[in-house]
Amino acid sequence: MADVRREWFQLQRDLGGDEVIFDAPMDVKAALGSGGKRRTPPPAAPVEPPAMPAIEASTKPKIVRPFGDPNAMWRKDAPPIPGPGLTIVPPADSVARGAVWASLDAVATEIASCRGCPLCEGRTNTVPGEGNPAAKLMCVGEGPGESEDLSGQPFVGRAGDLLNKILESIEVPRPEVYIANIVKCRPPRNRAPLPDERAACLPYLHRQIALVRPKVLLALGGTAAESLLGVKKTLGDLRLRVHSWDGIPLIVTYHPAALLRNPNWKRPAWDDVRIARQLLELDS
Ligand code: URA
Repeated sequence: MADVRREWFQLQRDLGGDEVIFDAPMDVKAALGSGGKRRTPPPAAPVEPPAMPAIEASTKPKIVRPFGDPNAMWRKDAPPIPGPGLTIVPPADSVARGAVWASLDAVATEIASCRGCPLCEGRTNTVPGEGNPAAKLMCVGEGPGESEDLSGQPFVGRAGDLLNKILESIEVPRPEVYIANIVKCRPPRNRAPLPDERAACLPYLHRQIALVRPKVLLALGGTAAESLLGVKKTLGDLRLRVHSWDGIPLIVTYHPAALLRNPNWKRPAWDDVRIARQLLELDS
């Protein structure tokens, strides 16, 4: 049990440390070496974390627990599911264009030869997306960076490492998720994709969403949120709402690269992903 707790708290520290842990017992805080950074007075009596399922001595402790486990640690102080936001119907022309691609592989093959916008000129590889074709959670980022352009895989650089940790923290391991981007070719110097570049690429993403048909969509950052929702609004306007994309609940959160630049956003991002995680458990 101690190993599991250590693993969990290490993950929490990677995700923002004291910003994320509020009520950890003092002995755990001390063991993590963060006791001196505490900003609020210690509680009068130590608060015990939720009981953990027993772990057989012979098996390596794992963070992943049964889906819907009422004792899951991410659940502690998770915010309630917020109210509804925008309702989006995918554009008919995009749906019609995508209808010819019968599978995720067919979409990727089409992307590999795409010359639909100027981003194709600078690419090393296209980055169509990857993951579980039957994923319950689908994450959507902005566009490939350098590491992704070189590897042809989404979110493999530093932002990808953080995304993996975020997914672990809500006990949805990356291999269970489908991950894609708004644009499938790297914009020069990692700038945000331009409106015509996004528009040229969106039919691929729309078709990927239709094929995976996840239970929840997670838009990572303003570009992903605006492009999927078809609006020009701030992240602050779009967070903390359950939008609907063709009937699929869509949650907006910070881009992992933004979290690397500004760790103060890790705490609100932690709330966002726990909202998404709760939505995964609803019957529908
Ligand atoms: N940032 C993104 O938005 N997507 C990636 O695939 C990698 C970094």
